[in-house]
Amino acid sequence: MSTPWDVHRLPRAAGKTFLVTGGNAGIGYFTAEQLAGTGATVVLGSRDPAKAQAAMLSIRSRIPDADVRHLLLDLADLASLKSAVDALDVDRLDAVVHNAGVALDHPPRRETKDGNELMFGTNHLGHFALTHWLAPRLKAAPAARVVTVGSFAAKSERLDLDDLQSTLDYRPKRTYGRSKLAQMYFGFELDRRLRAAGSSVLSVVTHPGGALDSLTPSRPPVHVRTTGERLRGLPAALLVQGKEAGAWPAVRAVLDPQVSGDELWAPRVFGLRGRPHAQTVKDHLADAEVAARLWEASRDLTDADPSRPLT
Ligand SMILES: NC(=O)c1ccc[n+]([C@@H]2O[C@H](COP(=O)([O-])OP(=O)(O)OC[C@H]3O[C@@H](n4cnc5c(N)ncnc54)[C@H](OP(=O)(O)O)[C@@H]3O)[C@@H](O)[C@H]2O)c1
Repeated sequence: MSTPWDVHRLPRAAGKTFLVTGGNAGIGYFTAEQLAGTGATVVLGSRDPAKAQAAMLSIRSRIPDADVRHLLLDLADLASLKSAVDALDVDRLDAVVHNAGVALDHPPRRETKDGNELMFGTNHLGHFALTHWLAPRLKAAPAARVVTVGSFAAKSERLDLDDLQSTLDYRPKRTYGRSKLAQMYFGFELDRRLRAAGSSVLSVVTHPGGALDSLTPSRPPVHVRTTGERLRGLPAALLVQGKEAGAWPAVRAVLDPQVSGDELWAPRVFGLRGRPHAQTVKDHLADAEVAARLWEASRDLTDADPSRPLT
């Protein structure tokens, strides 16, 4: 019988290298911190060198022998991604965690440098293209993983394949939910393509549940929680959790040999808080036809196709 997964006693991963996009803040920071504790080399993909430095200092203050590095990465600039990856100073990548994300609450509709709607362009298209450029390094690892961080919000959304860029009808919360749904379709479709090709690379989809800053332990200067914020946040802890716990599903998806690609890893309690566990992929999330059509559209929008170099 295998030992139950303990989020506080992770297996050693010395010799491995993991990239966490948006590793400078929030759930990505805690994902990087927890992975750094395994002895692995952890690369923080961040568009802001000062924030990345602060995150690395914080991780090193807690794990003195941590091997953490920074990769300059702006997912909202597709043309920059190839050279960003060229600067990655490793031949082999054991996992990438597609964690970075942007969520807008209010209009106006905004666009990336490439003219894509900001949330769809950053969260989905940026990670889609990044996977393409990372492929040779992922293939060089014996059993690499592509871990995509989706969202609970995707469950109540449906994609409009005729308006992926929300040009005709822009509602920020819905466009965000759809961008996360697109990411999850990407992760499941990549899994199907990798398995069909007999690839050693695994694609795993996770989501963090609900993760609030007010329930997140301080990591100055990356994140500082006052006593007042902590007390005001307490009632919410019945339903949701902090970002340290929000990192657990992605960390498990990187490290646990039992994880497979046709599962959705999420918090145990109503999918909102608690230890990570595997859920069955069902309903619209399992729609392979929509996922395939999204893949084609994403390929056309990015001039990249991650399944080709990976399989
Ligand atoms: N928190 C939740 O309850 C929740 C629920 C469901 C899903 N999620 C998902 O979990 C992930 C992390 O969420 P979070 O709450 O930790 O968010 P967060 O605290 O806002 O952190 C987002 C991270 O993404 C980075 N980022 C944004 N745009 C980027 C770009 N163009 N290029 C590179 N990095 C970029 C940010 O960098 P900067 O610091 O430079 O802005 C930051 O590091 C996201 O994918 C989110 O959709 C979160």
